[in-house]
Amino acid sequence: MISKKMTKQLNEQLNKEFYSAYIYLSMSAYCNRNDFPGAANWFLLQYEEEQDHATRIYNYLIGQDAKVVLQEVAKPPKNFGSLLETYEESLAHEQDMTKNLNELSDYALKEKDHATYNLLQWFVNEQVEEEATVSEIISKLKMVGGDGYGLLMIDSELGKRATIDSDISQ
Ligand code: FEO
Repeated sequence: MISKKMTKQLNEQLNKEFYSAYIYLSMSAYCNRNDFPGAANWFLLQYEEEQDHATRIYNYLIGQDAKVVLQEVAKPPKNFGSLLETYEESLAHEQDMTKNLNELSDYALKEKDHATYNLLQWFVNEQVEEEATVSEIISKLKMVGGDGYGLLMIDSELGKRATIDSDISQ
């Protein structure tokens, strides 16, 4: 059984994961509108990955016999600028998520709640991977600048992404 305060914070994180899914779905729609089908595919998979993250927290709360309280999911932006700016916004979002997860981990340790701490370490590790992946895409986008052929090549590469990184059965 986890504390009421920990339960509340995990419910807030659950909401943030759904917001992450929502912002990536919005980025996917935006890329589709702007003729970047590869990036649209990439963000759609990111949307699925974030839903997996939410489900992982949901399953944990249920397993701990803690109360799941779903809140409204905030409205994401509709427009994100250039493809580079879209990925930069994605990175800024993930950095914000990392900050939240680090604070939550600190709190779990303070409560000596090692089960929740273990759950959160999975997320902290996942953030390292997510930030690295997005940073790599940003570097490539900066390299090509506004060159149409370069953007086409990167979009084609992003379109090859076929899987999500997390697996809630793990
Ligand atoms: Fe679930 Fe991208 O953080």
